[in-house]
Amino acid sequence: MRMADLIVKKRNGQELSREEIHFIIDGVVHEKIPDYQTSAFLMAVYFQGMNDREITDLTLEMANSGDQFNLSGVDGICVDKHSTGGVGDKTTLIVGPMCAACGVKIAKMSGRGLGFTGGTIDKLESIQGVKTSIPYEQFIRQLNEIGMVISSQTANLAPADKKLYALRDVTGTVESIPLIASSIMSKKLASGADAIVLDVKTGSGALIHNFDDSVKLAEEMVAIGKNAGRKVRAVITDMDNPLGMAIGNALEVKEAVEVLSGRGPADLKEVCMELAVQMLHLSNESLSEEECRRQLSQSLANGSALRLFKRVLKAQGAKENAIESLQISDMIVEVEARESGYVSSFRTDEIGRACSLLGSGRTNKEDTIDQTVGIVLNKKQGDYVKAGDILARFYVSEKSDVAQAESIFQNAVQISKTIPERKKLIYKIL
Ligand code: URA
Repeated sequence: MRMADLIVKKRNGQELSREEIHFIIDGVVHEKIPDYQTSAFLMAVYFQGMNDREITDLTLEMANSGDQFNLSGVDGICVDKHSTGGVGDKTTLIVGPMCAACGVKIAKMSGRGLGFTGGTIDKLESIQGVKTSIPYEQFIRQLNEIGMVISSQTANLAPADKKLYALRDVTGTVESIPLIASSIMSKKLASGADAIVLDVKTGSGALIHNFDDSVKLAEEMVAIGKNAGRKVRAVITDMDNPLGMAIGNALEVKEAVEVLSGRGPADLKEVCMELAVQMLHLSNESLSEEECRRQLSQSLANGSALRLFKRVLKAQGAKENAIESLQISDMIVEVEARESGYVSSFRTDEIGRACSLLGSGRTNKEDTIDQTVGIVLNKKQGDYVKAGDILARFYVSEKSDVAQAESIFQNAVQISKTIPERKKLIYKIL
């Protein structure tokens, strides 16, 4: 087989066999195929797509390209959750403890943020002392004893994805349904959970902006998971607005703790409750969704979810009272509305970019981030503002590019004279 022939075959819209896909992934992982050919192949997939069989084969090859996490030593059903990425998305820190407090084993392998999207590992690392590289023995013990662990992905988890993703990031081939679906699901399958709930974001702050394409992505990932013998559910949720009010690492942890304490913004609470219901239900289908909702609400009301979160943090090295003493910048810049009217929409990706410019995000994987900076919105879509009212507070450092961030933020907030239609938060469950 020759890679050049396979590139031409895909470029011409033909189907690749399982053996051909194996040849490509094996060649990528063992560096037998040069990056320029892999990039050409990715672009061919971007334009020609892949059918369901090809996507499943690609995912399985990628999942098998490195370590397979063995969770057979865990007592009970292990559930994983994955978000396709967004702005202000701190749901893992909330739904994990809620579900674990109701008896679900939450085995979560998370990533770091890149570009305008945030990552759970960066958020966790804003809590003093917390370790995110968890040895296998501790991972299993913590799951059995506490019911939840959040770890960074091991270096050899789906190495094919690491190579492909790095090339996609610089060749304009990130926003491809077969490539996103196989990238996410290869890591989820290799992580070993019995059941997976996917939070597929749609809207201006998501990787896939368009609703129909978000549904296609969700359907594809659910089909891959089921073909691989896992229980999978996808929830399509709104990312036309940042989720909650806080964006930026320590600020998001603080907001997650608010929700775990029974308070917090309504939109964040609603999305978390729906995801948690699906996770609990998937782990025990004999419970009705109503009963799942009742148990989960109780985990917030009686403090058991918050207590569980604190136990997880302590087991992973957090200092005493770490979440009560989060480090958040005390340099605050208030951003005011330039005109009166209703906040009609956000360009949520641009808000994520503004936050990155304050220091909370990376443009390259190697960049260090500032956990203490970020944005707290004061107004959300549908709210009325008068010129001069505070739209948001920027938590900044000396290194933040405040002027540029403010200009991007102002352009990302649309203000209109008419009352906008409120967006739905949960669009579809598959
Ligand atoms: N997250 C991933 O892990 N992979 C993608 O391709 C997109 C989002």
